[in-house]
Amino acid sequence: MSSTALKHFFPHPSSSHHARMSHSSPPKSERQEYIDKLQNKFNSMEACRSHIRQKGYPMMLNDAVKHNTMVGDGRLKDVVNLWSDVLARGVAGDWVETGTYKGGTSMLAAMLVRAAADHPSCPRIHRTIWLADSFEGLPAKRAEDAGKDKGGLQMDPAGSYSGYGGVAYVRSQFSRQSFRIRGAATISANTRANPVIRFLPGWFNATIPSAPIDKIALLRLDGDMCERCPPPPRLAACPQHLAAAHVTRC
Ligand SMILES: C[S@@+](CC[C@H](N)C(=O)[O-])C[C@H]1O[C@@H](n2cnc3c(N)ncnc32)[C@H](O)[C@@H]1O
Repeated sequence: MSSTALKHFFPHPSSSHHARMSHSSPPKSERQEYIDKLQNKFNSMEACRSHIRQKGYPMMLNDAVKHNTMVGDGRLKDVVNLWSDVLARGVAGDWVETGTYKGGTSMLAAMLVRAAADHPSCPRIHRTIWLADSFEGLPAKRAEDAGKDKGGLQMDPAGSYSGYGGVAYVRSQFSRQSFRIRGAATISANTRANPVIRFLPGWFNATIPSAPIDKIALLRLDGDMCERCPPPPRLAACPQHLAAAHVTRC
């Protein structure tokens, strides 16, 4: 077919035929364009969120999570729901958990970041997963706290959680899942999908005030006791930095 014939079948957009066609469908108003844009954004947000949740609920039962958390299914489900919402909405900032124990709940958060990375509708935002813990148990119990624990969990003496191997054990659990650990001697599989895992070992009042955390997207407070916690302005919600807080106790 000659180029003249081709032009007949596929006229240039600026040809009079095309102009006539476009006159018959009036251009969208700015308002309609805005509504369509919002609708598209909403649809991708929904697609991303339901993708993360669909993958996240089975992840709660993953051995790497289950064997390393004392948090029950109800609260783990809260984590999936809240964190997937933060990830789908593209809220900037990191995951911070104060009181990580063996790291299972933070592991779930890291896995959800991975799940978000493999869906085209999910915003691509770099995340850091911060694990703050003494990694050697609870602070010494104050006399005035005696009998205050209503959750059924006994306030264990200092050091009682340290039998599991502390920070080295938790690092090894994340390494086994090929997460990148900042500051570790060996950094495994470095892919764009993987969040960075950072440890803040020590008592909260020593580590949190100077932690190099820029923005917090979700803060999970699971430290059992207020003893050795930094004063509220640093740990509790700073509205401009904090998108969501999941407070379990204290
Ligand atoms: C309830 S456990 C955390 C459970 C954990 N989120 C999970 O997924 O299983 C409380 C943790 O907080 C830590 N902790 C409590 N008070 C602390 C403090 N003031 N500073 C540092 N760590 C503390 C303890 O070492 C313990 O591992």
